[in-house]
Amino acid sequence: MAKYRIAWLPGDGVGIEVCEAAKIVLNKVQLDAEYIHGDIGWEFWCKKGDALPQSTIDLMKNVDASLFGAITSKPIKAAEEELIPELKGKGLVYRSPIVRMRQLFDLYVCLRPCKAYPGNPLNFKEGIDLVVFRENTEDLYVGVEFAPVPQELVDVLTKLSKPFANFKDTPNDQYAISCKINTVKGSERIIREAFEFAKKYGRKKVTIVHKANVVRATDGLFLEIGKAVAKDYPGIQWDDANIDAMTMWLLKNPFNYDVLVAPNLYGDVISDLCAQMVGGLGFGCSGNIGEKLAVFEPTHGSAPKYAGQYKVNPIATILAAKMMLDWLGEKEKAVKIENAVAEVIKEGKVRTYDMGGNSKTLEMAHVIAEKL
Ligand code: IPM
Ligand code: MG
Repeated sequence: MAKYRIAWLPGDGVGIEVCEAAKIVLNKVQLDAEYIHGDIGWEFWCKKGDALPQSTIDLMKNVDASLFGAITSKPIKAAEEELIPELKGKGLVYRSPIVRMRQLFDLYVCLRPCKAYPGNPLNFKEGIDLVVFRENTEDLYVGVEFAPVPQELVDVLTKLSKPFANFKDTPNDQYAISCKINTVKGSERIIREAFEFAKKYGRKKVTIVHKANVVRATDGLFLEIGKAVAKDYPGIQWDDANIDAMTMWLLKNPFNYDVLVAPNLYGDVISDLCAQMVGGLGFGCSGNIGEKLAVFEPTHGSAPKYAGQYKVNPIATILAAKMMLDWLGEKEKAVKIENAVAEVIKEGKVRTYDMGGNSKTLEMAHVIAEKL
């Protein structure tokens, strides 16, 4: 029996291609694993009304880790139109499977390392090495949304909230409400995770990202908890910044920052910015990590316009696989993969289209594998 059982979830479009590339690298590094395919993606939405079928959920509960490629998603109305006729009109609502996985398995850490590998022509500046800790289960992502707004809610808000008076006479179908919910537990565990990481890896600073000057209740809570947690780590510098200012400062001087921790939506935004500074879509990788389960993925989507062409950069997925090895405790193999990726980038002989070259997805994977 293999040492590890890995759920293999390529999904749609280029997700399939980049996972194939990652498998080449994992096989070369001889990870002792059984890879079990899980159905996920647009096809399952259209045919079964669920892009994340129950069989895949069950599989994910019984493995050591999952590697996920990418999924095509469409706005709610367009998604409904593509359902098979039997499923139309049943009120099925498309929800992003990755967001569901994060909530279903309580994968509360979204870890997004953003490192500028030397010689990458896409680096914004050489030497950037940021790590984003994004809260992964709460905030504006909880899915508590109302459109149209039910009258019961209008009545309660009218009673409880002064600023709501500005909306109370707006017809119910002329506005929408999305709730931002942040808990003490959820905020504390992600912030602690960021500080623990800084301590373990000798990082110089943790920056707490928020918008507490305006969004006082939820972001205020996040910041207050941040301040309290920071007290437990006297050896680690910390500061905080509003999300808007943060985007400017990050561009102005990325070297002033190190580990960033943010509620879900700001973490989503800031991790794209950081990923772009180290090469963009082809390099952004994530770990969605909980107490017992973890799902690793490239941050990019399924890129339907490139599907079938085997031209996208597989490095993001190869680095996601590397993160998976780290998490499984296979540090040596993880380091080897990262070094091989770094070497190929530095040599600059094999580059995918995003890097200004014309190498194909699997060619890149094979060249990385040859370095192992
Ligand atoms: C990400 C993505 C997802 C998110 C989308 C695909 C739902 O942008 O992983 O950052 O918003 O979390
Ligand atoms: Mg995102």
